[in-house]
Amino acid sequence: MTRSFPDNFIWGAATAAHQIEGNNLNSDWWQLEQLAADHGVQPSGDSLDSYHRYEEDMRLLADAGFGAYRFSIEWARIEPVPGAFSRAELAHYRRMIETAQRLGLKPMVTLHHFTHPLWFEERGGWLGEGAVDAFKRYAEQACTILGGVEWVFTINEPNVVAFMHGGRRGDTQGKPFPENGVPDDEIGDVLIAAHRAAVSVVRAATGAKVGWTIGNQALTCIPGAEKKYAEVQYQWEDKYLEVSRDDDFIGVQSYTSQQVDEKGIIPHPPHPDNTLMGWAYRPDALGIAVRHTREVVGDDVPILITENGMATADDERRIAYTTGALTALRDAMDDGIDVRGYLHWSLLDNFEWGRWEPTFGLIAVDRETFERHPKPSLGWLGGIARNNAL
Ligand code: BGC
Repeated sequence: MTRSFPDNFIWGAATAAHQIEGNNLNSDWWQLEQLAADHGVQPSGDSLDSYHRYEEDMRLLADAGFGAYRFSIEWARIEPVPGAFSRAELAHYRRMIETAQRLGLKPMVTLHHFTHPLWFEERGGWLGEGAVDAFKRYAEQACTILGGVEWVFTINEPNVVAFMHGGRRGDTQGKPFPENGVPDDEIGDVLIAAHRAAVSVVRAATGAKVGWTIGNQALTCIPGAEKKYAEVQYQWEDKYLEVSRDDDFIGVQSYTSQQVDEKGIIPHPPHPDNTLMGWAYRPDALGIAVRHTREVVGDDVPILITENGMATADDERRIAYTTGALTALRDAMDDGIDVRGYLHWSLLDNFEWGRWEPTFGLIAVDRETFERHPKPSLGWLGGIARNNAL
């Protein structure tokens, strides 16, 4: 059965600067990779050299039939020293925006995707003095290159940032991701303030729609655990989703689903179908995420799927997963949920935050020669984009 999507539905793929560019020397993550090497954290190194090869990446996306590219600009490059903004780096990202436009791709720009300048980290990161003002000042500079960009994301997955940085509190040499726990509430509050400041800046300086993207957990409740479920749901998600009621849209990012019992989130049990992230194979998670988001945010804020995908070495499974996710999405839209687009994570097999093994890409990359090798899933999803139908 053919299931078509609304006119002007946006089809694209997403990436993040630190995961693909290479040599992001001035960032907290570069430092973390060096410090945490003993914990088995792998370095990003040259990564995919997309800093230089972005045009090739965008062309592959456009030629496959997609109409949008979500990427992030790197604060650590744009402001290598506090208050000193690099005109050359801003011009670099402006060229990326114009290249996307020239190739027929809508550029969709994230201001902050997990990384920040080393000097910001050394001042205490999000809990340091003046953190919100520093982010606001960076956002003002970023706006100088955003002409013609229709969609801007302030902070990617603030809930996950609050989780990661909460775990790092007092121990910068530890693992980048805590083993368990919940997002740090205090860091979360700062991120909310930073987001609100950046939204005002973007609204004043550009014509873009502005919002942020939430790492949706698609949590479900074991009967009897309703109280804990509500608590965890708020800490992980709703605190951040509620903020979006004042935004132009909300970005939903969904990969898997987990249950909550009276002790909290139940870790993914080992299973042969688990993805290379160790996550349960749950294409239906996207439907749960979208429905929950609508429940919290309401009907007035449109939804954009800003990330969805699967870490697998088997491209046929990626296609099967994405078919399931898009079917669940279309079902949710049939129920009246206003979804404006779908951006697959990810365009490329990239640096998965300390690991190279979990491959999410529609395109494989030879990390010695940097040669790009499109997988069948690129053409397959590009065909769906072209037909605007599943
Ligand atoms: C992040 C991406 C990441 C992906 C898969 C999201 O949390 O925004 O940077 O690669 O999930 O883990």
